[in-house]
Amino acid sequence: MADTKQVQAAVYRGDNGDRLSVETLGLAAPQHGEVRVAVRAAGVCGSDRHVLDGEWQVQLPAVMGHEAAGVVEAVGPGVRGLGIGDHVVIAWHQACQRCGECTSGKPWACTRAKSNDSLLPDGTTRWSEADGSAAFPYLATGAMAEAIVVPEFAAIKIDERVPFDVASLIGCSVGTGYGAVVNNARVVAGEAAVVVGAGGVGLSIISALRLAGATPIIAVDVSEAKLREARRAGATHAMMSGADLGERIAEATDGGADVAFEAIGRVQTMQQLPELIRPGGRAVFVGLPPEGQKVEIDGLLLAYDGKTIIGSNYGGLVPARDFPRVASAYLSGALPLDELISARVRLDDVNEAFDAMRRGERTRSVILFDA
Ligand code: APR
Ligand code: ZN
Repeated sequence: MADTKQVQAAVYRGDNGDRLSVETLGLAAPQHGEVRVAVRAAGVCGSDRHVLDGEWQVQLPAVMGHEAAGVVEAVGPGVRGLGIGDHVVIAWHQACQRCGECTSGKPWACTRAKSNDSLLPDGTTRWSEADGSAAFPYLATGAMAEAIVVPEFAAIKIDERVPFDVASLIGCSVGTGYGAVVNNARVVAGEAAVVVGAGGVGLSIISALRLAGATPIIAVDVSEAKLREARRAGATHAMMSGADLGERIAEATDGGADVAFEAIGRVQTMQQLPELIRPGGRAVFVGLPPEGQKVEIDGLLLAYDGKTIIGSNYGGLVPARDFPRVASAYLSGALPLDELISARVRLDDVNEAFDAMRRGERTRSVILFDA
């Protein structure tokens, strides 16, 4: 097709272990209500790794990545709210915008969204291979590419003073962490909080807890390096994981935290979470375990102690409301996000970036693209 643009992208075919290949694919022009965004930064997120390591199944071949920021470079017919040159953060959860959930501030609960099937909301893809067969944007985004096409509502305009690398994280890890604290757990000043797992999502939770005024903020991890980063992000205490964690936290919080977050996606640490909170406390599941795994919880203690378990999907975000709020908090200095980025890399380095994540070395690598 004449309007199809040739675009470099990181593609996962599932036929070469966990490796991605950087290839040129066709990207069709934006259709009604859609925009094409020149990606300027794409974060390397744990959810992509779940796919590459075979823990979650997706449609193949997949253009990977789902955490991006960039500049609008083309608009389809009927686009009213965005223009060429606007700086945008991409929302990977693309809800229908019309159902009861969407219209009552819970777009993340929309059952018609097709993001998890790697399809745009109309059930199609704009990506194609040289032979014309379809390729699929992971989480309806496929952010590890020079350009992407998304619905207008999934490209949220933000202040141009936010650098692209920080902006990209707002679309997933930072937005998820902020939303878990503000929307799901509704943390208020003075509450005692624990965050188990200080990776990209965990550190985002920690920085949002600081914004909300939680104290103490206790970070838990298995890596000393991650615990040092957690302190930089705003944790007041750092603890190594272990069987006696509940006792150590009870001691530091005078009987247990008000709220605890799991930000790894491990069944064992999810099970441990209710033990870290005091009666009446909240345990928030943010990390996503491999498909089909079960969590065992003591039902009697949960009921007797009046504890609440909260599932947090995409931080309960309303992207058009929350992304600009996160950007404002960053620009005011209240939400430190630069510290979350540990490496800036090129698209060709994508496999090495995932390897560094597997080794637990880096909090967040961000892939940068030229203007
Ligand atoms: N106890 C404590 N911390 C642990 C443990 C453990 N048993 N095992 C691993 N960790 C730490 C790692 O050292 C790392 O710092 O958990 C952190 C996980 O961070 P990342 O690998 O950077 O993952 P992230 O991108 O933050 O995503 C976490 O959230 O959205 C989901 O899909 C995502 O399930 C994933 C989770
Ligand atoms: Zn993500």
